[in-house]
Amino acid sequence: MRKKIVAGNWKMNTTVPEGVALAKAVVEKSAQVPAEVGLIVATPFTHLCPVAEVVSDTRVELSAENCADKEKGAYTGEVSAAMVASTGATWTILGHSERRQYYGETDEKLVEKVKLALANGLKVILCVGEILDERQAGRHFEVVKAQVENVLFNFSAAEMASIVIAYEPVWAIGTGLTATAEQAEEIHAFIRKVLAAHFGEQVAEDTTILYGGSCKPSNAKELFAQKDVDGGLIGGAALKADDFIGIALSF
Ligand code: PGA
Repeated sequence: MRKKIVAGNWKMNTTVPEGVALAKAVVEKSAQVPAEVGLIVATPFTHLCPVAEVVSDTRVELSAENCADKEKGAYTGEVSAAMVASTGATWTILGHSERRQYYGETDEKLVEKVKLALANGLKVILCVGEILDERQAGRHFEVVKAQVENVLFNFSAAEMASIVIAYEPVWAIGTGLTATAEQAEEIHAFIRKVLAAHFGEQVAEDTTILYGGSCKPSNAKELFAQKDVDGGLIGGAALKADDFIGIALSF
C-alpha cells in the first residue's frame, strides 16, 4: 500500500527563528492527523539543523528543498546530499519547477542529484509538471511523461521505493489557480501508467504521487479524494501550521 503524504515546501520563506517556531507549531498540531498520513516539512538549508532538533523523536519528517548535482569539492555555494543527510534530514525535494525555471535545472542534472540523494540515504520528492503554454497546447501528457522517463527511468524498481513524485502544474503554483480534481486525477493516473509500463504494476501501485499547486484546506479534500492523488506538496499554505495541518486532515 502506498503512503499518503502531506509535505510543506517552505521555499525561501522564514528566518531561522521563524522556521523553528513554525516547525514547533506543526509538531504540536500533528497529533490531530491520523497516523497513516506522513508529514514532512521542507525547509531552507539554513534551517535544517535547528528544525532537525525540533522534529527529532516526532512523527514529522524533515526535507531539504534541493541538493547539489556534485558529490563534494570546489562548488562554492552548493550544498551536497551528504551535507543534507548529516543534518538529520531524511528527504530532499528535487526538480521543483522554480529550480527548473530560474536555476537551469535540467533532467540531466536531476539524474545526478537523485543518484547522490539516494546514495546518501535521502528519500526524494521529484517534481514534474507542465507550464501554461504546454497545457494550452494540449502537450501536458507528453511533457510530464518525458520528465518522468528522463529522470526516473535511470533508477531501479528497488530505488523507486525511496522516490515520491509530485505533480505540480506550473500554472497552478502560487497563482491561486488549482487544477481541478479531474485534471489532477487524469495526470496522476497517467503517471502511474507510465511507471507501470517501465517498472511494472507493483511499483506503479506503490509509488506515492502528490499534487501541488495552490492546494489549501478548502480544496484539499476534493483533490485527495481522487484515486491516484496520494497527498500534496504544499507551498504557501504550509507557512501557517493550521492550514498545513488542515490540509493533512483532508483525506
Ligand atoms: P503553492 O506551491 O502551494 O504555493 O502553489 C506549491 C509548490 O510549489 O510546491
